[in-house]
Amino acid sequence: MIFKKKSKVAVNADKKLSHIAFIMDGNGRWAKKRGMPREYGHVKGAENFQRVVRHCGDIGINTVTVYAFSTENWNRPENEVAQLMKLLYQYIDSAVRELEKNEIRFIFLGGKEKLSPELRERMEELERLSEKYSLTLNIALNYGGRDEIVHACNSLIKEGKTEVTEQDISSHLYTKQSPDPDLVVRTGGDFRISNFLLWQSAYAEYYFTKTLWPDLDSKEIDAIVENFCTRHRRFGGL
Ligand code: IPE
Ligand code: IPE
Ligand code: MG
Repeated sequence: MIFKKKSKVAVNADKKLSHIAFIMDGNGRWAKKRGMPREYGHVKGAENFQRVVRHCGDIGINTVTVYAFSTENWNRPENEVAQLMKLLYQYIDSAVRELEKNEIRFIFLGGKEKLSPELRERMEELERLSEKYSLTLNIALNYGGRDEIVHACNSLIKEGKTEVTEQDISSHLYTKQSPDPDLVVRTGGDFRISNFLLWQSAYAEYYFTKTLWPDLDSKEIDAIVENFCTRHRRFGGL
């Protein structure tokens, strides 16, 4: 995967969009449509994830966040969870090896305690080794927006706080190093956020597309970004 600073401009020319987030949904249905097992959809989804991230880098987006595995996804059949964990491990392992080529800073959002020690170790290694890069890829893995807020509150209590500000909460979220998302895109045709970036999306723009995740291509991303650039964000003002 390559995510270089070579903005092709035109789309997102004035860099209005600096943080895009994706709810990568529809892998299972994509596979089912082809008479294939759901796992095949996840493999294709993982391949497309790399193309999408590369394209976002090409059009000058500084931060990309992807929803890879939610706190609720543990409720899936054991073999699907195992397949997803295996795919994530393979991806993270290859990202460690391709660090220099990609020049991306990786940050994982979500509690790591529930993950296997091997996976956790790889994730921590990738975070540590990629710290020097500025283009950021946040991967939400075992992530839930509610869990994140509870985790932030507990951290604040441990620090001895008895009263908190919005800034305190923001600075204790898994996303503390990133600005709030400008745009949240959900593929797969459902109109919900499924516990994603609840706090951070207070003023995000949303875009919902019927396209299933493995089919989301550069052309559609450009159209989505162009649509975003025409929107008037008022943030409660006029
Ligand atoms: C998104 O695709 C990937 C994950 C949630 C891990 P799904 O697996 O939810 O695919 P659909 O929504 O069932 O088609
Ligand atoms: C959202 O997709 C989570 C991820 C993309 C990782 P889901 O498929 O889990 O969402 P629901 O269950 O349809 O809300
Ligand atoms: Mg789904």
